[in-house]
Amino acid sequence: KFTSIAMIGCGSMGGGMALLFAEDGLHVNLSDPSEKAMDAVIEKAEKSGYHGKLKKHKDYDSLCKSLSKPRLLVFSLPHGGVGDKVLEGLMPKLSKGDIILDCGNEHFANTERRQNKCKDTGICYIGCGVSGGYQAARAGPSMCPGGDESGLKEVLPLLQKVAAKDKNGKPCVGIIGKGGAGHYVKMVHNGIEHGMMSAICEAWGLMRKLGLDYEEIGDVLKEWNSSGELQGTFLVSIGADLSHKREPGDKSNPDPQQHPLVISEVLDKVVQDVTGEEGTGVWSNTEAIELHVPAFTLNVAHALRLASAYRGDRERANKMFDGGFPPSELKDVKDKKAFIEELRQATYAACLASYIQGMNIIARADQKHKWSIDYSQVWQIWRAGCIIQADYISDNILAPVLKNNPSSEDLNLIFSSVVAKDIKKTFPALRRIVAKAVETDQVVPALSASLEYFKVSTGTDLPTSFYEAELDYFGCHMFDKKGDQDARVKKPMEGKYHFEWKPATSQ
Ligand code: 6PG
Repeated sequence: KFTSIAMIGCGSMGGGMALLFAEDGLHVNLSDPSEKAMDAVIEKAEKSGYHGKLKKHKDYDSLCKSLSKPRLLVFSLPHGGVGDKVLEGLMPKLSKGDIILDCGNEHFANTERRQNKCKDTGICYIGCGVSGGYQAARAGPSMCPGGDESGLKEVLPLLQKVAAKDKNGKPCVGIIGKGGAGHYVKMVHNGIEHGMMSAICEAWGLMRKLGLDYEEIGDVLKEWNSSGELQGTFLVSIGADLSHKREPGDKSNPDPQQHPLVISEVLDKVVQDVTGEEGTGVWSNTEAIELHVPAFTLNVAHALRLASAYRGDRERANKMFDGGFPPSELKDVKDKKAFIEELRQATYAACLASYIQGMNIIARADQKHKWSIDYSQVWQIWRAGCIIQADYISDNILAPVLKNNPSSEDLNLIFSSVVAKDIKKTFPALRRIVAKAVETDQVVPALSASLEYFKVSTGTDLPTSFYEAELDYFGCHMFDKKGDQDARVKKPMEGKYHFEWKPATSQ
């Protein structure tokens, strides 16, 4: 249907996607404030043999005139004001039936605001999460589009051609739901991604203190990725790969083996924009809190990343605290192999916790916004190409629940029998790893939060009785009495009783 498209934004993601569309035979019209960025994409296209397929444009007029109708314009832009400005400039040049496919990491509320803005003009604005990083953008990413169904149906065949394919050759793209559902699901994908990355880096830290060198850790991760519950987990597989990478040899020293491993040179600071402009990590956690979804693992994963960014403050505090509380070497672990196996199970448990929490956020948002999310498509788009790709989890945990597109009310993964089986199996290992880590001052926020999450989510004798009593004491908050629980399952916030804990003193 489309013979030419516009690619607006030619950074690493947009540039990669421009080449991907050119490879599919489309004429790609580029627009970017940086001519250099457009030239770089055109040069790559020439080298790849897509001669004349890409053309750069200096203004929206020539860009829009060069597109066949209905026009398809793909955005790959930073979130927020940039997209608004671009849309503002484009709207007078577009007409009914044209489609904008916003492939950036945009906040779903911005997406919905733009969808409303476009509504009366007949322009269709689709919010499409794109995952897999810049290399997948070129090779075929996982794509998560949401919005108006008729517009989605028009672009779907094209997206199916370019998207990542799962092991059965099925494209990792599908119609996710209405409104901002596509960008929302991508945002939560990133929240899950951060939970998993925290758990994996914490396991890496423990293995370092166990005395494994960088490359030995790479070998362990390779094994974890090849079988068992972490099988086919993208973030584990790239961890295995990066652990062996050295600076390339140069003229003065051509042997790469003589060069340090790159990982040994990476500072412990996850670069984070702390100005409030940072995207998906902040948004997914804000959403969890606003929707009242307990997301222990995701919350602390974000906090770890954030705390790591304040390297200067940490250095200053480290001095004030006479060296802080550094983790000790795990010298007394006699059976390293058994410890590593427990660590594998613990890491899996935290990844699973991240998925459970993420799905709960999506389900709650779906109920609130009435997006009619198709969960079988969420399952499909996460099968390959994306950062949270995890084959075991996909086949064994998500497939039994999501494949039949359950209603969002029935979605809590914790009630799935396969999830229960795996949590029961891995919980003791998670507990032992966290206990050992606590004893020896290791940094394990996501692992320990996941342990707490499983205890709290399945516990019926929490210390919160005391919390509730104190609230009632000073705030007359009311409380529920033991024995009445069943009636209140559906109304968790309801309190019926108040006790005058401290009789009022007479005036
Ligand atoms: C993906 C990634 C990607 C990510 C960026 C920036 O799915 O490909 O999640 O979209 O958002 O690499 O990462 P941060 O926002 O976490 O810094």
